[in-house]
This record gives sequence, structure tokens and C-alpha cells, in this order.
Amino acid sequence: MSTSTIATAREVFDLLREDLVAVEQELGRDAASSVSTITEIAEYLREGGGKRIRPSLLLLAAHMLGYAGQGAIRLGAAVEMIHTATLVHDDIIDGADTRRGRPSANTTWGNEKCVLAGDWLYMQAFKVALEERNLRILDLIVSLTQQMVEGELLQIQKLGKAISEAEYYDLIFRKTACLFSVSMRIGAGLADATEAQETCLGAYGRAVGLAFQIVDDVLDLTATEEVLGKPVASDLREGKATLPVIHAIDHGTAMDRKTIQRVLDDRSFENVSRQQIQEILARNGSVEYAMAAADRYAAQSRQALAAVTDSDFKRALLWVPEFVVAREK
Ligand code: IPE
Ligand code: IPE
Ligand code: MG
Ligand code: MG
Repeated sequence: MSTSTIATAREVFDLLREDLVAVEQELGRDAASSVSTITEIAEYLREGGGKRIRPSLLLLAAHMLGYAGQGAIRLGAAVEMIHTATLVHDDIIDGADTRRGRPSANTTWGNEKCVLAGDWLYMQAFKVALEERNLRILDLIVSLTQQMVEGELLQIQKLGKAISEAEYYDLIFRKTACLFSVSMRIGAGLADATEAQETCLGAYGRAVGLAFQIVDDVLDLTATEEVLGKPVASDLREGKATLPVIHAIDHGTAMDRKTIQRVLDDRSFENVSRQQIQEILARNGSVEYAMAAADRYAAQSRQALAAVTDSDFKRALLWVPEFVVAREK
């Protein structure tokens, strides 16, 4: 088989099977605290599953560049714990009651305990990363965490506003794409990659991450809660203007703009129905516009790997952006 072709989901899963089992075991060990409430919450979050896309990227990046040690397992668990910590805090901030098809942790344990559990998870991730004694990797993780927190904070500042595309991209880079990029860079760092290689892998992660969040934002408008496992139509209700909505605001009629702004102001579908919003988006081709942007980032991510030697791991990384734009949850 030509190594330049894109892998299938099964091939990718087979390629990572043993490593992902090891990451789950590491996550199990890392969820243990001497305080039982923390262990309960951390275990609940771990059992909830999730796509494990960030550790998968880290593992693929490290292996693609020839790394074979155990550090990728531990750091894969670390990036997943950072992701989980942001989800716990995000669900508190968003007032979300479901996650991964189950009640969100805040619904079960309340906000106070979950804020602390999220803090604990961040620190557990740092502790695991510290064991690698790799200052470059620690530097990446600390800057990343600050970017993510800044992203969530900027988002709060912009709630209810019809933000520009530039503001939107800045936000989604910080809150989502930065972690994808850092997961790739950590993989590269473990493999003692050259600076040029790390830059390419980081650019790949950034582009995949941007596509990932655009699709997440589209799914919020088009999916059902049963499939998605988390609340839908929630972004507008929370006052967040995402790419399809920004497109409709920029290209729709004055009435379209007014109708959308009403939901952003009300933070509810009380005066304007969800169907009315969907009609506006459909008439303006706004979902297609956002998906075309996601497709462009997917293509850009594949392009970022052009200089890397062909291998099964590279083929798997070429598959990821396809999966990201085609996913239903
Ligand atoms: C959800 O991430 C948060 C976003 C960045 C949109 P995922 O969709 O990767 O969540 P899980 O881990 O699979 O549940
Ligand atoms: C995810 O943004 C940002 C994080 C890094 C947690 P969203 O608020 O869109 O994520 P979901 O939709 O709740 O998973
Ligand atoms: Mg949320
Ligand atoms: Mg979302």
C-alpha cells in the first residue's frame, strides 16, 4: 500500500491500541487522591471516556519521529488530564448539565467541589509532566494552560457581542487549537525533533484544532443531544457568536442581524425560536460557509506534514483531519 494514502479508522485504532490501553491505565493511576471526593470525581470523568484525540495526536507525533519510550504514555495522560480539567471548569462556566452522554460532574457534585477537582487535575497533569524532567515540555504545558484560561476569560468578556471572525479565531486558537498544537509539539519534543520538525507538527496541530472547534460549533447548531452527548443550541443561549452565526450576521439582512442579536441579548430562545435561527443560517448558507472553513484547515493540516517521511503514523495523522470534519460527535 502506498504510504501517502490516508489510513482508515480501523488502521489508526489498531496502530494505537496498545498505547491507548496504557494511557487508560496511567489515567487510572493518576486519578487517585488521598481525598475521596477528588478520586470519585476524577474516576467519574475518566470513566466517561471521550475520544482521546489529544493523547492520540501526541502518540502519533512521537512515533512518527521514531520515539519508542514510555514518556509518550505519561504525557498523553497529562494532556488528557489538562483537557478534562478545562471541561470540568467549562461546564461550570457554561452551566452545562450533560457531558459525554451523562450528567456533567457539576450536576452531580456541585460547582464548589468541581472547581477544586479541576484545579487538582491541572496539578496532577503538571506533576506527571514534571517526572519527564524536560524543561521544554514543561514550558509548553505552562504557556498552554495560561492560553486556555485566557481564552475562556476572553470568551466571557465577549459574551452577547457580535464578534469579528478575527476575534473568533483568536478565541478558538486559545481555547482548543493550542492544546492540539502543544500535544503535537510534545510528541516532537520527546523524539528530539529539530526545531523545523516541531514547527511543522505544531502547525499541523493548530490547523486540526481550529477545524475541530469550528465543527464543534457547527454541531452545537445542527446535532441532537442524544448523539452529541452534551447540550445543543447552547452557544447562542450562552451569548456566544460562533462562525456560522458570525457569517449570518455579516451577510444576512438587517432583520437577520436583529433577530440573532435578540437571542444573544436574551440568552434564551424565548422571543426568537431555534427554528428561526436555523432558517436564517440556512438561507445564508452559513453552516456550509463554516464547514468550508473547517475543510480548508483540514487541508492545511495535511499540507503541514508534506516534508515528513511517509510511514503508517504519518498516514494516521493524515486521517485525523478527515475524521474531525466528518464526525458527528
Ligand atoms: C470538547 O472536546 C471540547 C472542545 C474543545 C470542543 P472533545 O470533543 O475532544 O471532548 P471528548 O474528550 O471527546 O469528550
Ligand atoms: C470548549 O468550548 C473549550 C474548552 C477548551 C473546554 P465549548 O464550550 O464549545 O466546549 P463544549 O461544547 O462545552 O464541549
Ligand atoms: Mg462548553
Ligand atoms: Mg461547544
